[in-house]
Amino acid sequence: MRRKIVAGNWKMNNDLGQTDELLTELLKKMPETEASVMVAPSFISLRVAYDALIQSPIEVIAQNMHFAESGAYTGEVSAEMLKSAEIDTVILGHSERRAYFNETDETLAKKVSTAIAHDMTVVFCFGEELTDRKSNRHFEVVESQLKKGLFHLESQAWKNIILAYEPVWAIGTGETATPAQAQEMHAFIRKTVAEQYSSDIADKVSILYGGSVKPDNAKEIFSQADVDGGLIGGASLNAKDFIAIIEAI
Ligand code: PGA
Repeated sequence: MRRKIVAGNWKMNNDLGQTDELLTELLKKMPETEASVMVAPSFISLRVAYDALIQSPIEVIAQNMHFAESGAYTGEVSAEMLKSAEIDTVILGHSERRAYFNETDETLAKKVSTAIAHDMTVVFCFGEELTDRKSNRHFEVVESQLKKGLFHLESQAWKNIILAYEPVWAIGTGETATPAQAQEMHAFIRKTVAEQYSSDIADKVSILYGGSVKPDNAKEIFSQADVDGGLIGGASLNAKDFIAIIEAI
């Protein structure tokens, strides 16, 4: 059985006080679930969130990290720093990092390698832009992102990989891929991993969908055979909505 996952990406939202408030709300109403639940606060809030959630099944994860071990990289955070704060999972390749911070497939491949070398789990994000889909290049783009970002990994590293397909045109726009579009792409992703590695690895890797997942569309998206959960942006900032999405899985 593949792991079902609901992960909340808070992006650049919530200061320390708001982190505490949101997590308190979340803990009050957290449903029993077999799914893994994760939240990704800003670096500033990571440790506070970790302490607040230590008795709960919710895992605190990071939104980004640098590929270097340490050194003159002003403003950056290393794998070792995250590990020292008990953070074992990191989101890499989010479309906002790619678009606004010039993260390339090559940079991401290095980040992925560093995270794996530190035995971290990676939530690897990728997805096509609207122009790609309109010109019917979405499969090609997704295949290329997977290949360049991840296919240098050895088979055994895949136990530490979670995939998050996030069509850029659906992020923060209120526009969601239809369940059929999500399923079609997730099946393609699984097939691509199976061809490069093995059907065993492809069957085991969790593939999350991200892009305007809300309480009212989560259930239908999560019910697709190859959709193993969601990476949730906006709706993860509201305890009630995030809980409804956890319940949907
Ligand atoms: P959204 O963001 O749910 O606000 O569309 C998803 C994401 O960026 O991970």
